[in-house]
Amino acid sequence: MKLRDKVAIITGGASGIGMATVLLFVREGARVIIADIQDVRGKVEDLLRKGDRVHFIPTDVSQEAQVKSLFQTAIRLFGRFHLLVNNAGIALPKTVPQTTEAEWDHLMGVNLKGVFLCSKEAICFFRQWGGGVIVNVASELGLVGGSEIAAYCASKGGVVQLTKAMAIDHAREGIRVNCVCPGPVETPLLDNLIFSAKDPEEERSRSLNSVPLGRFGRPEEIAKVILFLASEDSSFMTGAAVAVDGGWSAR
Ligand SMILES: NC(=O)c1ccc[n+]([C@@H]2O[C@H](COP(=O)([O-])OP(=O)(O)OC[C@H]3O[C@@H](n4cnc5c(N)ncnc54)[C@H](O)[C@@H]3O)[C@@H](O)[C@H]2O)c1
Repeated sequence: MKLRDKVAIITGGASGIGMATVLLFVREGARVIIADIQDVRGKVEDLLRKGDRVHFIPTDVSQEAQVKSLFQTAIRLFGRFHLLVNNAGIALPKTVPQTTEAEWDHLMGVNLKGVFLCSKEAICFFRQWGGGVIVNVASELGLVGGSEIAAYCASKGGVVQLTKAMAIDHAREGIRVNCVCPGPVETPLLDNLIFSAKDPEEERSRSLNSVPLGRFGRPEEIAKVILFLASEDSSFMTGAAVAVDGGWSAR
């Protein structure tokens, strides 16, 4: 039980990597708040029936008022929290000329501003409590460029740099901040990217061939690294960007 007595807020916890992280954190003894725009209640009744262990708070992470209300509700429910996982994210398979201003603003609002807003709230509370841990979910596309996914690359590069900046600013306050950089992982986000391609079959095999390990990751494989970064096992790590990508970014 690596997270016994810990309370974690996980954004985007209703699906994919976030949901796998919720399940793993609960197994490791944590109580978890899922913050998502997607209503998880019909989806995982079993999980939500686990007494007071899992709560769902509808939240759009790009909206400051909703983020403030999320943290207030978390404190009302549990008294305090120890971990924040900034996982909510969206993708947009477009080049810069193809991207509208509204699409850019929406994507940055979720992927980058959302991390800023949630981290800001968490850091203000962690300071009062003498510490805490933030794990951001960036992407391998925050480390290297990719084709026809420009705004997403920019947002994830921003998450990697924001991770490092917050780690430096708040290390002496007992706050650790790290990020994971997943490669392609079997989730609805990846499915949507593949199905939006002109030839989805070709896109799927092209993506698979780009991974040295020859397969897509599973959400649970990313969740295990998020758990490592959230737990005391990584007590001497802050400001790190950990690639979990089947060797994708090693090319
Ligand atoms: N799947 C991949 O291949 C991959 C690779 C690298 C990085 N990532 C990153 O992993 C994270 C999780 O993605 P996933 O693949 O599990 O996708 P997913 O689509 O399965 O899950 C994303 C979740 O974020 C939620 N969300 C979207 N907008 C939101 C908002 N405004 N406020 C709150 N929640 C919101 C969605 O409702 C969903 O539950 C994302 O940040 C994504 O960029 C995914």
